[in-house]
Amino acid sequence: MVEENKESLAETGARLFERKSLEAVEKQGRFLVALAGGSSPRGMHRRLGVLPSIPWQDLHIFWGDERCVPVDDPSSNYGAAWADFIGRVPVPAEQIHPMPGHETPQKGALLYEKELRQVFDLQEPHVPVFDLIVLGLGKDGHTASLFPGHPSVKETEALVVAVKGGDPDVHRLTFTFPVINAARGVMFVVSGKDKAGVVKAVIEDQEETRPASKVLLSSGDQTWLLDREAASLLKEATLSAFSCG
Ligand code: 6PG
Repeated sequence: MVEENKESLAETGARLFERKSLEAVEKQGRFLVALAGGSSPRGMHRRLGVLPSIPWQDLHIFWGDERCVPVDDPSSNYGAAWADFIGRVPVPAEQIHPMPGHETPQKGALLYEKELRQVFDLQEPHVPVFDLIVLGLGKDGHTASLFPGHPSVKETEALVVAVKGGDPDVHRLTFTFPVINAARGVMFVVSGKDKAGVVKAVIEDQEETRPASKVLLSSGDQTWLLDREAASLLKEATLSAFSCG
């Protein structure tokens, strides 16, 4: 799905989120969603805060990755989402699941994996099936905090791992591909001219060196929400053939 600009991207993303939340609650009584970090989803987050029909009381909100910094640090994904909408919507506190960035990274990864299994009522080796995982895309092709060349990209057992890297180059916690690829739906939210090259590399060229190319849902639907700038290097054939949303 290609949107004219960041504003329409945010609106469309928020409406897709709303639709998926209503479908999931109708079907199973709750909506299990993981948010992306970074700046791209923030416009969508701010729109979510004012949409009237999202069943907030039935949402469980997780994060696909987090920087290991205090929640009041400007680089905290949880802190940004709280400021953008979570602090203003009636999701019960016990249904908001920030990654424990205050713990030592390895311990934080184990604790979050335990929390996932509790909320999803899962025993090992089963993998939680999210209704929606929102993802961003880094210029190097990373998604969540799965960075090119990092062993975490090849992780097949753990649900959450500790890594170090990115911008800012800090310790982070991240979902692994087993969790991402088990989702019922994944939505990439990507905007800006500086992402046009990597969007082409992932969507059109499926470059294996780009971790985002490993997002291949076993049975869910994968949506690309792009603004015109981010989609500007895609061929017409790709835009029409590839289910960009
Ligand atoms: C993070 C993000 C990361 C982000 C990309 C794109 O915590 O860093 O989850 O994967 O989505 O780096 O970031 P921007 O949207 O800021 O370009």
